Amino acid sequence: MTIEETVKLARPNILTLKPYACARDEFKGQADIFLDANENSMGSVLSEAMNRYPDPLQVKLKEKIAEVKQVNPNQIFLGNGSDEAIDLLYRVFCQPGQDSVIIQPPTYGMYGVSANINDVKILEAPLTPDFQPDVEKVISLTGAYTKMIFFCSPNNPSANIMDVENVKMILTKFPGIVIIDEAYIDFSEKKSWIEELNRYPNLVVMQTFSKAWGMAGLRLGMLFAHPQIISLMNKTKPPYNVNECTQKLAFAALSNKNHKDEMVKMLLSERANLINGLSALKPVKKVYPSDANFLLVKFNDAGKMYKDLMNRSIIVRNRSSMPGCDNCLRITVGKPDENKRLIQTIKELDTK
Ligand SMILES: Cc1ncc(COP(=O)(O)O)c(C=O)c1O
Repeated sequence: MTIEETVKLARPNILTLKPYACARDEFKGQADIFLDANENSMGSVLSEAMNRYPDPLQVKLKEKIAEVKQVNPNQIFLGNGSDEAIDLLYRVFCQPGQDSVIIQPPTYGMYGVSANINDVKILEAPLTPDFQPDVEKVISLTGAYTKMIFFCSPNNPSANIMDVENVKMILTKFPGIVIIDEAYIDFSEKKSWIEELNRYPNLVVMQTFSKAWGMAGLRLGMLFAHPQIISLMNKTKPPYNVNECTQKLAFAALSNKNHKDEMVKMLLSERANLINGLSALKPVKKVYPSDANFLLVKFNDAGKMYKDLMNRSIIVRNRSSMPGCDNCLRITVGKPDENKRLIQTIKELDTK
């Protein structure tokens, strides 16, 4: 697929959209006095300067991210969490009431919720029993109005990476947008799809600061794609979608990447401990392999275990109702003492 063909997938009203021009778009240089944006020049009630609108295109932050991720700044879109980027992809590419998207359950819920919000038809190609894409099924579902396919790799809640060859097959065969959500990629030894961006104009890769970087509260999601896709996203987004606090704090965090790498190392070691600990417990039937910071765990009776843990003040996620996840709980890898308490609590429950 060429980039020209990819851009033509966008909604006609987005292609012709004249975006909102905010004050900071019209004048970007240095000046002494800014009386152009109806801000409060006096300051604010906070000690930190927050009285000015943030950079709409987050130029400084993107330069830093580009350095860390080895991409060009014009291949980056930043959103108020990946969730905003997911919603914008629908608004850019999918005509409500007409177009469709392929989702591969069990997977992250927002792909479906955003489709429903945007009145986009959902076509489901369930993952195989070992949680890999069913390539034939995916291809058979595609039609003239299928605009996007979502992959989640590592997948939430199954925790595994999607097979590279399967994804490649779909990337080359499907004449639409292929999104690979890599929210958990820092916990995997496998390569990011970011490296393939220059080869596939229809490839969109998403990552987030909410997981390995430990900044879920800041709300910052990254989307990497061809500069022309990024342009479409930028003209459709709300002008100041990433606030000043988030831009500043994320910039500071990126300057301290070692800290993130140390946390990931510790979480991976805790993941190994948790797998060993859980596998030895009687109520546990299976611990699935994980490339993420969580485990999918099959219990004899997940519903009862979920309630028993909750009654002891330990909250996990019951995923039993999702396809292929019968009697499964999703358990996030926590701090060492939290993981120990989880194991100890399940042991005690078992002796009752
Ligand atoms: C696969 C996946 N993508 C995206 C998100 C949300 O990311 P953000 O916090 O950046 O909106 C989650 C959150 O759980 C997730 O599991």
